[in-house]
Amino acid sequence: MRDPIIPELRTGKAAEHWQDNISESCRVNLKLISDASTIATSYPREQALNWLSQHVPELRLRHILRVEQTAIALAQHHQVDVNQAGQAGLLHDLAKYFKPERLLQMARDAGLAIDPVEAANPHLLHAEVSAIVARAELGIHDEAILNAIRNHTLGRPEMSRLSCVVFLADSLEPGRGHTPELEALREASWQDLYQGVWLTCEQTMRWLFEQQRLIHPRVVLTRNWAMLLAQQQLQAANS
Ligand SMILES: [Fe+2]
Ligand SMILES: [Fe+2]
Repeated sequence: MRDPIIPELRTGKAAEHWQDNISESCRVNLKLISDASTIATSYPREQALNWLSQHVPELRLRHILRVEQTAIALAQHHQVDVNQAGQAGLLHDLAKYFKPERLLQMARDAGLAIDPVEAANPHLLHAEVSAIVARAELGIHDEAILNAIRNHTLGRPEMSRLSCVVFLADSLEPGRGHTPELEALREASWQDLYQGVWLTCEQTMRWLFEQQRLIHPRVVLTRNWAMLLAQQQLQAANS
């Protein structure tokens, strides 16, 4: 079978090309992410890349690889395990292209309670189902990694710092763009993971309001949880 993954992405060297045509203010964070390709990681990638090459289009694969590298960079910066972060980043969107009926069926088969918002938007279940696929088809049994995959779209109150890293990497990888709002969220995330999660949830909620779309209650709960933690840390630092 033809392998659609271009060689430079396989070796994690794609970051070099993200730095074309961007403002100086973006270069610092991108440099950190680019440096992630030189951080020694030790998890197996080949089987996941082969699976992905058969189940997601190349554009999505590029996003996935940027999430992997962004997660590694954020993890390194915040003293989170880089191998768990990279692996969760690589596996976070396995079920992104599963059809709504398949997502609903797999979620029901796994005994998950399906929220009314998820019933109306089954695509939201791709995070839970990606974790199911990671375990069943790629043999991932590390619950910390599986939880980071599960939490990458909606977050979750009390989620681990690893989950925060993957949640933020998915929202803020360089391919998402370089608007002032996104740059501010990247800056906040480099300063403090909880601040990043809080403000990223708010940005998502603003967009959903504007689009008159349903808001999953877990985004609100995650926002409140992260906001309280970030503010407590700020108060502690100032006292
Ligand atoms: Fe996703
Ligand atoms: Fe994603």
